[in-house]
Amino acid sequence: MNPNIFLQNGELVIILIKGKKQAIKNKISFFLSLRWILLATYVVIGIVPLLLIASTILHSVQDYFIEERKKELLSQANVISGQITSHNYMTEQATRDSLEETVLDMSQEHDFRVLVLDSSCLVVYDTGYSDVGKTVLIPEVIEALENKDIARIQEDGMVYAAVSISGSNNTRAGVVLVSDDMKDIADTVNNIAKKGNLLLAGLAIIVIIMMFILSQIFTEPIKKMIKVIQKMSQGHFEQRIQVHSSIHNEVVDLALACNQMADQLEKVESTRQQFVSNVSHELKTPLSSIKVLSESILLQEDVPKEMYVEFLHDINSEVDRMAAIINDLLTLVKLDQKEIPLNFKEIDLNEMMEGIIKRLLPLAQTKGIHINYEKVRDVTATIDGMKLTLAIANIVDNAIKYTPESGSIDIKLDADHQNVFISVADTGIGIPDDEVGRIFERFYRVDKMRDRETGGTGLGLSITYSTIMMHNGSIKVYSKEDEGTTILVRIPMRQNI
Ligand SMILES: Nc1ncnc2c1ncn2[C@@H]1O[C@H](COP(=O)(O)OP(=O)(O)OP(=O)(O)O)[C@@H](O)[C@H]1O
Ligand SMILES: [Mg+2]
Repeated sequence: MNPNIFLQNGELVIILIKGKKQAIKNKISFFLSLRWILLATYVVIGIVPLLLIASTILHSVQDYFIEERKKELLSQANVISGQITSHNYMTEQATRDSLEETVLDMSQEHDFRVLVLDSSCLVVYDTGYSDVGKTVLIPEVIEALENKDIARIQEDGMVYAAVSISGSNNTRAGVVLVSDDMKDIADTVNNIAKKGNLLLAGLAIIVIIMMFILSQIFTEPIKKMIKVIQKMSQGHFEQRIQVHSSIHNEVVDLALACNQMADQLEKVESTRQQFVSNVSHELKTPLSSIKVLSESILLQEDVPKEMYVEFLHDINSEVDRMAAIINDLLTLVKLDQKEIPLNFKEIDLNEMMEGIIKRLLPLAQTKGIHINYEKVRDVTATIDGMKLTLAIANIVDNAIKYTPESGSIDIKLDADHQNVFISVADTGIGIPDDEVGRIFERFYRVDKMRDRETGGTGLGLSITYSTIMMHNGSIKVYSKEDEGTTILVRIPMRQNI
Protein backbone atom coordinates (compact mmCIF):
# COMPACT_ATOMS: atom_id res chain seq x y z
CA MET A 1 0.00 0.00 0.00
CA ASN A 2 1.21 3.48 -0.76
CA PRO A 3 2.12 4.98 2.64
CA ASN A 4 1.13 8.47 1.44
CA ILE A 5 -2.42 7.47 0.74
CA PHE A 6 -2.58 5.72 4.08
CA LEU A 7 -1.39 8.88 5.81
CA GLN A 8 -3.90 11.01 3.94
CA ASN A 9 -6.71 8.70 4.93
CA GLY A 10 -5.56 8.84 8.51
CA GLU A 11 -5.62 12.62 8.46
CA LEU A 12 -9.07 12.63 6.97
CA VAL A 13 -10.37 10.44 9.77
CA ILE A 14 -8.87 12.70 12.39
CA ILE A 15 -10.45 15.77 10.79
CA LEU A 16 -13.84 14.07 10.68
CA ILE A 17 -13.71 13.13 14.34
CA LYS A 18 -12.66 16.64 15.29
CA GLY A 19 -15.53 18.10 13.25
CA LYS A 20 -18.04 15.86 15.00
CA LYS A 21 -16.79 16.77 18.46
CA GLN A 22 -17.01 20.44 17.61
CA ALA A 23 -20.57 20.00 16.36
CA ILE A 24 -21.66 18.36 19.61
CA LYS A 25 -20.06 21.13 21.64
CA ASN A 26 -21.89 23.74 19.55
CA LYS A 27 -25.16 21.95 20.05
CA ILE A 28 -24.77 21.89 23.82
CA SER A 29 -23.95 25.54 24.11
CA PHE A 30 -26.81 26.26 21.69
CA PHE A 31 -29.34 24.72 24.08
CA LEU A 32 -27.69 26.42 27.03
CA SER A 33 -27.94 29.75 25.25
CA LEU A 34 -29.81 32.57 26.93
CA ARG A 35 -32.58 32.23 24.39
CA TRP A 36 -33.28 28.57 25.13
CA ILE A 37 -33.00 29.09 28.85
CA LEU A 38 -35.52 31.96 28.61
CA LEU A 39 -37.82 29.86 26.48
CA ALA A 40 -37.63 26.88 28.84
CA THR A 41 -38.27 29.14 31.84
CA TYR A 42 -41.27 30.71 30.17
CA VAL A 43 -42.67 27.31 29.25
CA VAL A 44 -42.19 25.99 32.78
CA ILE A 45 -43.70 29.12 34.34
CA GLY A 46 -46.51 29.44 31.78
CA ILE A 47 -47.58 25.86 31.15
CA VAL A 48 -46.82 23.78 34.24
CA PRO A 49 -49.12 25.83 36.52
CA LEU A 50 -51.84 25.59 33.87
CA LEU A 51 -51.54 21.79 33.88
CA LEU A 52 -51.64 21.68 37.68
CA ILE A 53 -54.69 23.94 37.84
CA ALA A 54 -56.48 21.94 35.16
CA SER A 55 -55.86 18.61 36.92
CA THR A 56 -56.98 20.06 40.30
CA ILE A 57 -60.18 21.41 38.76
CA LEU A 58 -60.85 18.09 37.06
CA HIS A 59 -60.47 16.18 40.32
CA SER A 60 -62.76 18.62 42.12
CA VAL A 61 -65.38 18.23 39.42
CA GLN A 62 -65.17 14.44 39.65
CA ASP A 63 -65.42 14.51 43.45
CA TYR A 64 -68.40 16.82 43.23
CA PHE A 65 -70.23 14.52 40.81
CA ILE A 66 -69.52 11.49 42.99
CA GLU A 67 -70.74 13.25 46.15
CA GLU A 68 -73.89 14.32 44.34
CA ARG A 69 -74.44 10.78 43.11
CA LYS A 70 -73.95 9.37 46.63
CA LYS A 71 -76.53 11.82 47.99
CA GLU A 72 -78.93 10.94 45.20
CA LEU A 73 -78.53 7.19 45.75
CA LEU A 74 -78.96 7.62 49.52
CA SER A 75 -82.12 9.60 49.03
CA GLN A 76 -83.49 7.05 46.56
CA ALA A 77 -82.66 4.27 49.00
CA ASN A 78 -84.40 6.23 51.74
CA VAL A 79 -87.50 6.66 49.59
CA ILE A 80 -87.58 2.93 48.82
CA SER A 81 -86.95 2.01 52.46
CA GLY A 82 -89.77 4.35 53.53
CA GLN A 83 -92.12 2.77 51.04
CA ILE A 84 -91.14 -0.72 52.13
CA THR A 85 -91.88 0.18 55.73
CA SER A 86 -95.18 1.89 54.98
CA HIS A 87 -96.35 -0.99 52.76
CA ASN A 88 -95.22 -3.61 55.27
CA TYR A 89 -93.41 -5.23 52.34
CA MET A 90 -91.30 -7.48 54.45
CA THR A 91 -94.31 -9.12 56.10
CA GLU A 92 -97.27 -8.76 53.76
CA GLN A 93 -97.13 -10.62 50.49
CA ALA A 94 -100.16 -8.69 49.14
CA THR A 95 -98.37 -5.41 48.49
CA ARG A 96 -95.13 -6.94 47.26
CA ASP A 97 -95.79 -7.11 43.56
CA SER A 98 -96.98 -3.57 43.14
CA LEU A 99 -94.10 -2.24 45.23
CA GLU A 100 -91.57 -4.34 43.37
CA GLU A 101 -92.92 -2.90 40.15
CA THR A 102 -92.50 0.66 41.46
CA VAL A 103 -88.94 -0.09 42.57
CA LEU A 104 -88.15 -1.70 39.24
CA ASP A 105 -89.47 1.38 37.44
CA MET A 106 -87.34 3.60 39.63
CA SER A 107 -84.24 1.52 39.05
CA GLN A 108 -84.74 1.47 35.33
CA GLU A 109 -85.47 5.15 35.17
CA HIS A 110 -82.34 6.11 37.11
CA ASP A 111 -80.27 3.20 35.85
CA PHE A 112 -79.25 1.77 39.18
CA ARG A 113 -79.71 -1.61 40.86
CA VAL A 114 -81.77 -2.08 44.00
CA LEU A 115 -81.43 -4.98 46.41
CA VAL A 116 -83.70 -5.51 49.38
CA LEU A 117 -82.13 -7.55 52.16
CA ASP A 118 -83.72 -8.88 55.29
CA SER A 119 -82.19 -8.52 58.76
CA SER A 120 -80.02 -11.59 58.17
CA CYS A 121 -78.53 -10.03 55.00
CA LEU A 122 -80.40 -12.41 52.72
CA VAL A 123 -81.44 -10.88 49.41
CA VAL A 124 -85.22 -10.88 49.14
CA TYR A 125 -85.51 -8.72 46.08
CA ASP A 126 -83.03 -7.69 43.38
CA THR A 127 -83.84 -5.54 40.39
CA GLY A 128 -80.98 -7.38 38.77
CA TYR A 129 -82.69 -10.71 39.87
CA SER A 130 -79.46 -12.65 39.97
CA ASP A 131 -78.69 -12.33 43.69
CA VAL A 132 -82.07 -13.30 45.22
CA GLY A 133 -81.55 -15.87 47.93
CA LYS A 134 -77.87 -15.02 48.40
CA THR A 135 -76.39 -13.43 51.50
CA VAL A 136 -74.67 -10.11 50.98
CA LEU A 137 -72.24 -9.31 53.75
CA ILE A 138 -70.56 -6.09 52.77
CA PRO A 139 -69.54 -3.41 55.30
CA GLU A 140 -72.18 -0.98 53.99
CA VAL A 141 -74.99 -3.45 54.73
CA ILE A 142 -73.67 -4.21 58.20
CA GLU A 143 -73.31 -0.51 58.99
CA ALA A 144 -76.85 0.13 57.74
CA LEU A 145 -78.15 -2.61 60.01
CA GLU A 146 -76.44 -0.79 62.86
CA ASN A 147 -78.59 2.17 61.81
CA LYS A 148 -75.78 4.04 60.08
CA ASP A 149 -77.04 4.86 56.59
CA ILE A 150 -74.08 5.05 54.31
CA ALA A 151 -72.99 5.68 50.73
CA ARG A 152 -69.50 4.73 49.66
CA ILE A 153 -67.52 4.42 46.47
CA GLN A 154 -65.67 1.14 45.93
CA GLU A 155 -62.31 0.60 44.38
CA ASP A 156 -63.93 -0.79 41.22
CA GLY A 157 -65.82 2.50 40.79
CA MET A 158 -69.19 1.23 42.07
CA VAL A 159 -71.13 3.34 44.56
CA TYR A 160 -73.18 1.54 47.23
CA ALA A 161 -75.83 3.32 49.25
CA ALA A 162 -77.25 1.27 52.13
CA VAL A 163 -80.24 2.39 54.19
CA SER A 164 -81.91 0.38 56.93
CA ILE A 165 -85.57 -0.60 56.82
CA SER A 166 -87.43 0.13 60.06
CA GLY A 167 -89.27 -2.83 61.51
CA SER A 168 -91.70 -2.99 64.40
CA ASN A 169 -90.57 -1.81 67.84
CA ASN A 170 -87.74 0.21 66.51
CA THR A 171 -85.92 -2.84 65.10
CA ARG A 172 -84.11 -3.15 61.75
CA ALA A 173 -86.19 -5.28 59.42
CA GLY A 174 -83.59 -5.21 56.66
CA VAL A 175 -81.54 -3.04 54.32
CA VAL A 176 -82.15 -1.35 50.99
CA LEU A 177 -78.93 -1.48 48.99
CA VAL A 178 -78.71 0.74 45.92
CA SER A 179 -75.71 0.33 43.66
CA ASP A 180 -74.62 2.22 40.62
CA ASP A 181 -71.51 2.29 38.51
CA MET A 182 -69.90 5.66 37.86
CA LYS A 183 -69.44 5.11 34.16
CA ASP A 184 -71.50 8.10 33.18
CA ILE A 185 -69.54 10.32 35.58
CA ALA A 186 -66.26 8.93 34.24
CA ASP A 187 -67.51 9.64 30.72
CA THR A 188 -68.46 13.20 31.61
CA VAL A 189 -65.14 13.82 33.35
CA ASN A 190 -63.25 12.29 30.45
CA ASN A 191 -65.14 14.52 28.11
CA ILE A 192 -64.24 17.59 30.12
CA ALA A 193 -60.63 16.38 30.34
CA LYS A 194 -60.47 15.93 26.57
CA LYS A 195 -61.78 19.42 25.91
CA GLY A 196 -59.51 20.81 28.61
CA ASN A 197 -56.48 19.06 27.11
CA LEU A 198 -57.31 20.45 23.70
CA LEU A 199 -57.61 23.92 25.18
CA LEU A 200 -54.34 23.44 27.06
CA ALA A 201 -52.54 22.23 23.97
CA GLY A 202 -53.81 25.30 22.09
CA LEU A 203 -52.75 27.57 24.92
CA ALA A 204 -49.37 25.88 25.15
CA ILE A 205 -48.78 26.42 21.45
CA ILE A 206 -49.75 30.08 21.75
CA VAL A 207 -47.52 30.48 24.85
CA ILE A 208 -44.59 28.79 23.14
CA ILE A 209 -44.95 30.91 20.00
CA MET A 210 -45.24 34.10 22.06
CA MET A 211 -42.27 33.16 24.22
CA PHE A 212 -40.27 32.22 21.15
CA ILE A 213 -40.93 35.67 19.70
CA LEU A 214 -40.28 37.36 23.06
CA SER A 215 -37.03 35.51 23.62
CA GLN A 216 -36.04 36.46 20.07
CA ILE A 217 -36.80 40.12 20.83
CA PHE A 218 -34.65 39.93 23.98
CA THR A 219 -31.72 37.98 22.63
CA GLU A 220 -31.47 39.36 19.10
CA PRO A 221 -29.92 42.70 20.16
CA ILE A 222 -27.49 40.81 22.40
CA LYS A 223 -26.45 38.63 19.46
CA LYS A 224 -25.93 41.76 17.35
CA MET A 225 -23.87 43.27 20.18
CA ILE A 226 -21.69 40.18 20.37
CA LYS A 227 -21.00 40.41 16.62
CA VAL A 228 -20.12 44.10 16.84
CA ILE A 229 -17.93 43.61 19.92
CA GLN A 230 -16.15 40.71 18.22
CA LYS A 231 -15.40 42.97 15.25
CA MET A 232 -14.19 45.68 17.63
CA SER A 233 -11.88 43.20 19.30
CA GLN A 234 -10.36 42.62 15.87
CA GLY A 235 -9.58 46.33 15.69
CA HIS A 236 -12.62 47.65 13.80
CA PHE A 237 -13.42 50.45 16.21
CA GLU A 238 -15.76 52.18 13.76
CA GLN A 239 -18.38 49.47 14.43
CA ARG A 240 -21.55 50.64 16.20
CA ILE A 241 -24.62 48.79 17.41
CA GLN A 242 -27.79 50.04 15.71
CA VAL A 243 -30.23 51.16 18.40
CA HIS A 244 -33.71 51.80 16.99
CA SER A 245 -35.77 51.40 20.10
CA SER A 246 -37.07 54.55 21.70
CA ILE A 247 -37.93 52.52 24.78
CA HIS A 248 -35.11 52.26 27.26
CA ASN A 249 -34.57 48.88 28.81
CA GLU A 250 -31.41 47.20 30.10
CA VAL A 251 -30.53 45.73 26.71
CA VAL A 252 -30.87 49.09 24.93
CA ASP A 253 -28.78 50.73 27.66
CA LEU A 254 -26.17 48.02 27.27
CA ALA A 255 -26.03 48.68 23.52
CA LEU A 256 -25.67 52.43 24.15
CA ALA A 257 -22.92 51.77 26.71
CA CYS A 258 -21.15 49.58 24.14
CA ASN A 259 -21.35 52.37 21.58
CA GLN A 260 -19.93 54.83 24.09
CA MET A 261 -17.09 52.43 24.78
CA ALA A 262 -16.49 52.16 21.03
CA ASP A 263 -16.40 55.99 20.77
CA GLN A 264 -13.82 56.04 23.51
CA LEU A 265 -11.75 53.26 21.95
CA GLU A 266 -11.85 55.01 18.60
CA LYS A 267 -10.70 58.22 20.26
CA VAL A 268 -7.89 56.45 22.07
CA GLU A 269 -6.84 54.75 18.86
CA SER A 270 -6.83 57.97 16.87
CA THR A 271 -4.96 59.77 19.67
CA ARG A 272 -2.41 56.98 19.62
CA GLN A 273 -1.98 57.23 15.87
CA GLN A 274 -1.82 61.01 16.08
CA PHE A 275 0.78 60.71 18.84
CA VAL A 276 2.97 58.36 16.83
CA SER A 277 2.77 60.62 13.79
CA ASN A 278 3.50 63.68 15.95
CA VAL A 279 6.54 62.01 17.48
CA SER A 280 7.86 61.04 14.06
CA HIS A 281 7.24 64.53 12.73
CA GLU A 282 8.83 66.25 15.72
CA LEU A 283 11.94 64.09 15.48
CA LYS A 284 12.10 64.32 11.70
CA THR A 285 12.37 68.12 11.68
CA PRO A 286 15.61 68.38 13.69
CA LEU A 287 16.95 65.33 11.85
CA SER A 288 16.41 66.96 8.44
CA SER A 289 18.09 70.15 9.71
CA ILE A 290 21.09 68.10 10.85
CA LYS A 291 21.17 66.36 7.47
CA VAL A 292 21.04 69.65 5.53
CA LEU A 293 23.68 71.25 7.76
CA SER A 294 26.08 68.30 7.63
CA GLU A 295 25.63 67.81 3.87
CA SER A 296 26.29 71.45 3.12
CA ILE A 297 29.63 71.17 4.93
CA LEU A 298 30.49 67.81 3.41
CA LEU A 299 29.68 68.81 -0.17
CA GLN A 300 31.62 72.07 -0.06
CA GLU A 301 35.32 72.23 -0.52
CA ASP A 302 37.55 74.53 1.46
CA VAL A 303 34.99 75.32 4.07
CA PRO A 304 36.20 78.10 6.37
CA LYS A 305 36.66 77.17 10.01
CA GLU A 306 34.05 79.73 11.18
CA MET A 307 31.45 78.04 9.02
CA TYR A 308 32.32 74.64 10.51
CA VAL A 309 31.94 76.04 14.00
CA GLU A 310 28.69 77.77 13.17
CA PHE A 311 27.14 74.70 11.50
CA LEU A 312 28.33 72.37 14.23
CA HIS A 313 26.79 74.75 16.71
CA ASP A 314 23.48 74.52 14.84
CA ILE A 315 23.74 70.75 14.65
CA ASN A 316 24.43 70.66 18.37
CA SER A 317 21.32 72.65 19.18
CA GLU A 318 19.20 70.37 16.95
CA VAL A 319 20.58 67.35 18.83
CA ASP A 320 19.73 69.11 22.11
CA ARG A 321 16.21 69.61 20.85
CA MET A 322 15.87 65.94 19.94
CA ALA A 323 17.20 64.97 23.34
CA ALA A 324 14.70 67.32 25.01
CA ILE A 325 11.81 65.77 23.05
CA ILE A 326 12.91 62.25 23.90
CA ASN A 327 13.37 63.16 27.57
CA ASP A 328 9.91 64.69 27.78
CA LEU A 329 8.40 61.68 25.99
CA LEU A 330 10.04 59.29 28.39
CA THR A 331 8.77 61.29 31.36
CA LEU A 332 5.25 61.23 29.90
CA VAL A 333 5.31 57.52 29.16
CA LYS A 334 6.52 56.77 32.68
CA LEU A 335 3.82 58.98 34.15
CA ASP A 336 1.19 57.28 32.00
CA GLN A 337 2.29 53.81 32.94
CA LYS A 338 2.50 54.90 36.58
CA GLU A 339 5.95 53.33 36.41
CA ILE A 340 7.45 55.88 38.74
CA PRO A 341 5.34 55.71 41.86
CA LEU A 342 4.66 59.09 43.41
CA ASN A 343 6.80 59.78 46.38
CA PHE A 344 4.39 61.58 48.69
CA LYS A 345 5.91 63.69 51.43
CA GLU A 346 4.86 66.57 53.63
CA ILE A 347 6.20 69.59 51.70
CA ASP A 348 6.23 73.30 52.47
CA LEU A 349 4.63 74.65 49.32
CA ASN A 350 5.76 78.15 49.95
CA GLU A 351 9.36 76.95 49.86
CA MET A 352 8.63 75.01 46.69
CA MET A 353 7.13 78.04 44.94
CA GLU A 354 10.02 80.27 45.94
CA GLY A 355 12.47 77.68 44.60
CA ILE A 356 10.71 77.59 41.22
CA ILE A 357 10.62 81.38 40.94
CA LYS A 358 14.26 81.71 41.96
CA ARG A 359 15.28 79.28 39.25
CA LEU A 360 13.24 80.95 36.50
CA LEU A 361 13.83 84.56 37.57
CA PRO A 362 16.95 85.02 35.39
CA LEU A 363 14.91 83.97 32.33
CA ALA A 364 12.21 86.53 33.22
CA GLN A 365 14.81 89.21 33.86
CA THR A 366 16.37 88.82 30.40
CA LYS A 367 12.93 89.75 29.01
CA GLY A 368 12.37 92.48 31.58
CA ILE A 369 9.35 90.59 32.96
CA HIS A 370 8.37 91.32 36.52
CA ILE A 371 7.25 88.40 38.71
CA ASN A 372 5.00 89.13 41.74
CA TYR A 373 4.65 86.33 44.23
CA GLU A 374 1.87 86.49 46.81
CA LYS A 375 1.72 83.99 49.64
CA VAL A 376 -1.68 84.21 51.32
CA ARG A 377 -0.88 81.72 54.11
CA ASP A 378 1.62 79.06 55.12
CA VAL A 379 0.72 75.85 53.32
CA THR A 380 2.08 72.36 53.69
CA ALA A 381 0.70 69.43 51.71
CA THR A 382 1.41 65.75 51.09
CA ILE A 383 2.71 65.75 47.53
CA ASP A 384 5.51 64.46 45.34
CA GLY A 385 7.69 67.57 45.57
CA MET A 386 9.98 66.73 42.63
CA LYS A 387 7.20 66.05 40.14
CA LEU A 388 4.96 68.88 41.23
CA THR A 389 7.92 71.30 41.05
CA LEU A 390 8.43 70.24 37.43
CA ALA A 391 4.70 70.64 36.70
CA ILE A 392 4.39 74.12 38.19
CA ALA A 393 7.74 75.18 36.68
CA ASN A 394 6.28 74.29 33.23
CA ILE A 395 3.40 76.67 33.86
CA VAL A 396 5.65 79.52 35.02
CA ASP A 397 8.06 78.78 32.16
CA ASN A 398 5.16 79.11 29.70
CA ALA A 399 4.08 82.37 31.31
CA ILE A 400 7.57 83.77 30.79
CA LYS A 401 7.88 82.34 27.26
CA TYR A 402 4.52 83.64 26.06
CA THR A 403 4.70 87.09 27.67
CA PRO A 404 6.33 89.85 25.65
CA GLU A 405 9.11 91.98 27.08
CA SER A 406 8.36 94.09 30.17
CA GLY A 407 5.16 92.25 30.92
CA SER A 408 4.31 90.91 34.37
CA ILE A 409 3.40 87.62 36.00
CA ASP A 410 1.36 87.25 39.21
CA ILE A 411 1.79 84.03 41.13
CA LYS A 412 -0.40 83.28 44.13
CA LEU A 413 -0.44 80.45 46.65
CA ASP A 414 -3.56 79.92 48.73
CA ALA A 415 -5.37 77.07 50.49
CA ASP A 416 -8.57 76.13 52.26
CA HIS A 417 -9.11 73.16 54.60
CA GLN A 418 -8.76 70.58 51.89
CA ASN A 419 -7.06 72.03 48.84
CA VAL A 420 -4.07 74.06 47.78
CA PHE A 421 -4.62 76.63 45.04
CA ILE A 422 -1.82 77.92 42.85
CA SER A 423 -2.56 80.55 40.23
CA VAL A 424 -0.18 81.86 37.57
CA ALA A 425 -1.47 84.90 35.65
CA ASP A 426 0.51 86.56 32.88
CA THR A 427 -0.01 89.57 30.66
CA GLY A 428 1.12 87.63 27.62
CA ILE A 429 -0.13 86.84 24.15
CA GLY A 430 -3.03 84.70 25.38
CA ILE A 431 -4.59 81.69 23.66
CA PRO A 432 -7.41 81.80 21.07
CA ASP A 433 -10.75 80.62 22.54
CA ASP A 434 -11.05 77.59 20.25
CA GLU A 435 -7.57 76.35 21.16
CA VAL A 436 -7.68 76.70 24.95
CA GLY A 437 -9.08 73.17 25.28
CA ARG A 438 -6.24 71.65 23.29
CA ILE A 439 -3.10 72.97 24.96
CA PHE A 440 -2.82 69.90 27.21
CA GLU A 441 -2.60 67.60 24.18
CA ARG A 442 0.80 66.15 23.42
CA PHE A 443 2.83 68.25 20.98
CA TYR A 444 0.04 70.79 20.71
CA ARG A 445 1.34 74.30 20.15
CA VAL A 446 -0.77 77.26 19.20
CA ASP A 447 1.81 78.85 16.94
CA LYS A 448 3.96 76.11 15.45
CA MET A 449 6.64 78.38 13.93
CA ARG A 450 7.01 80.70 16.86
CA ASP A 451 7.29 77.82 19.30
CA ARG A 452 10.09 76.25 17.37
CA GLU A 453 11.92 79.51 17.92
CA THR A 454 11.16 79.41 21.67
CA GLY A 455 12.44 75.84 21.67
CA GLY A 456 9.23 74.32 23.07
CA THR A 457 8.33 70.70 22.32
CA GLY A 458 4.63 71.05 23.10
CA LEU A 459 4.93 68.34 25.76
CA GLY A 460 5.33 70.60 28.83
CA LEU A 461 1.64 71.01 29.67
CA SER A 462 0.93 67.31 28.95
CA ILE A 463 3.43 66.40 31.65
CA THR A 464 1.96 69.05 33.96
CA TYR A 465 -1.56 67.70 33.35
CA SER A 466 -0.59 64.08 34.00
CA THR A 467 1.24 65.01 37.20
CA ILE A 468 -1.70 67.02 38.55
CA MET A 469 -4.12 64.21 37.69
CA MET A 470 -1.90 61.78 39.59
CA HIS A 471 -2.25 64.10 42.58
CA ASN A 472 -6.05 63.93 42.11
CA GLY A 473 -6.12 67.64 41.42
CA SER A 474 -7.46 69.80 38.62
CA ILE A 475 -6.15 72.45 36.25
CA LYS A 476 -8.12 75.27 34.60
CA VAL A 477 -7.15 77.82 31.97
CA TYR A 478 -8.64 81.28 31.55
CA SER A 479 -7.19 83.14 28.59
CA LYS A 480 -7.86 86.08 26.34
CA GLU A 481 -5.85 86.74 23.22
CA ASP A 482 -3.40 89.67 23.51
CA GLU A 483 -4.41 90.20 27.15
CA GLY A 484 -3.02 87.28 29.05
CA THR A 485 -3.50 83.83 30.49
CA THR A 486 -4.32 82.59 33.99
CA ILE A 487 -3.70 78.98 34.95
CA LEU A 488 -5.38 77.77 38.14
CA VAL A 489 -4.19 74.57 39.78
CA ARG A 490 -5.95 72.78 42.64
CA ILE A 491 -4.25 69.99 44.58
CA PRO A 492 -5.78 68.11 47.54
CA MET A 493 -3.66 68.59 50.68
CA ARG A 494 -3.86 64.94 51.69
CA GLN A 495 -3.63 61.99 49.35
CA ASN A 496 -5.44 58.74 50.00
CA ILE A 497 -2.47 56.51 49.51
N1 LIG B 1 0.85 81.20 29.30
C1 LIG B 1 0.61 80.97 28.01
N2 LIG B 1 0.29 81.95 27.18
C2 LIG B 1 0.03 81.73 25.87
N3 LIG B 1 0.08 80.50 25.30
C3 LIG B 1 0.40 79.46 26.08
C4 LIG B 1 0.68 79.62 27.48
N4 LIG B 1 0.94 78.42 27.99
C5 LIG B 1 0.86 77.53 26.96
N5 LIG B 1 0.54 78.15 25.83
C6 LIG B 1 0.31 77.50 24.51
O1 LIG B 1 0.13 76.15 24.72
C7 LIG B 1 1.09 75.39 23.98
C8 LIG B 1 1.44 74.15 24.72
O2 LIG B 1 2.23 74.43 25.87
P1 LIG B 1 3.31 73.41 26.35
O3 LIG B 1 3.91 73.92 27.61
O4 LIG B 1 2.70 72.09 26.36
O5 LIG B 1 4.34 73.40 25.16
P2 LIG B 1 5.56 74.39 24.86
O6 LIG B 1 5.64 75.41 25.92
O7 LIG B 1 5.39 74.85 23.46
O8 LIG B 1 6.76 73.40 24.92
P3 LIG B 1 7.52 72.79 26.20
O9 LIG B 1 6.82 73.30 27.40
O10 LIG B 1 7.33 71.34 26.00
O11 LIG B 1 8.91 73.19 26.07
C9 LIG B 1 2.22 76.34 23.77
O12 LIG B 1 2.94 76.00 22.61
C10 LIG B 1 1.51 77.67 23.61
O13 LIG B 1 1.07 77.83 22.29
MG1 LIG C 1 5.87 74.85 28.03
